[in-house]
Amino acid sequence: MREELFKIKEASLNNIKDAIDLKTIEEIKIKYLGKKGALTGLLKEMGKLSKEERPKMGALANEIRENIENSLKEKENIIKNALLEEKLKAERIDVTLETDNLILGHYHPLKRTIEDLEDLFIKMGFLVYDGPEIETVENNFDLLNTPANHPSRDMTDTFYFDDKKLLRTQTSPCQIRAMKEIGAPLRMICTGRVFRNDEVDATHSPMFHQMEGLVIDKNVTIANLMHSLDYFVKAFFGKDMKTRYRPHYFPFTEPSLEVDTTCPNCKGKGCPSCNHTGWSMELLGCGMVHPNVLRNCGIDPEIYSGFAFGMGIDRIAMVRYGIKDIRMMFENNTKFLEQF
Ligand code: DAH
Repeated sequence: MREELFKIKEASLNNIKDAIDLKTIEEIKIKYLGKKGALTGLLKEMGKLSKEERPKMGALANEIRENIENSLKEKENIIKNALLEEKLKAERIDVTLETDNLILGHYHPLKRTIEDLEDLFIKMGFLVYDGPEIETVENNFDLLNTPANHPSRDMTDTFYFDDKKLLRTQTSPCQIRAMKEIGAPLRMICTGRVFRNDEVDATHSPMFHQMEGLVIDKNVTIANLMHSLDYFVKAFFGKDMKTRYRPHYFPFTEPSLEVDTTCPNCKGKGCPSCNHTGWSMELLGCGMVHPNVLRNCGIDPEIYSGFAFGMGIDRIAMVRYGIKDIRMMFENNTKFLEQF
């Protein structure tokens, strides 16, 4: 019996060693340990043994059964791991594969308008300057010659952090930064976000966009201002567009003007959207830079003069693309944005 047990052990362990797939492992299990298996068959013969022999053979048979079971388990794990490894290799995903369901983004109508404005002014010899959205009260108001009691400084209009810092209410502080950094002569524009404590409606948003322009040189006059702005309006909106200048007040320019253009809707004939005047109101504010502002930035107003202008970009984009409500520009509704 002992000999036969060892034979079974040796034969089964050899079989396990040679096994290369799970099916063979299962077959070996059945062949030796199954109900009709070799080991089970041998155990059935135990009754024939003497009383002394029986427990010894029983213990040996159990030991051998455990031995075979452990070897089977071990080999099974090795085969499973190898299979997994093979599967992982075969299933490696090729991320370079082409697919046609990529959604590509594109320009926002505001960004397109800003870049077109910048391109035009770059051609006119202006540099594109950039300034921060968090500004000092000094740059946003004081150095721009804004009197202490000017209504735009009011808490109800302006987002203050404290008595020195605010969210800029206009791009005009970029004038101050450019004059201090670059000095005269200077020809610059600056675009960006500005912030005012306005109620949201179809034409107002607490965050909107402006473009600022500034020219400083010797002998700059209001004729240069009018020529440059006329040129801009014709180049940007169309050759048949006209400009109209109305006197106005801004703290940082003297004299100050507001500019209207031919109504883009009726081309000057008169329609409900221009109140039948043929003119579209307030494209921009402008004027000759106030001598105090030049002095505040270290430029001698006896030697240099200049003009400045500022306009709302959101309105320009709205007119250009026929957008009726400013809120649509900031809602990020892709159905809306896809149209541009
Ligand atoms: N900063 C003015 C505003 O927000 C716009 C403006 C008017 C800018 C006249 C200028 C200017 O540079 O000369 O209403």
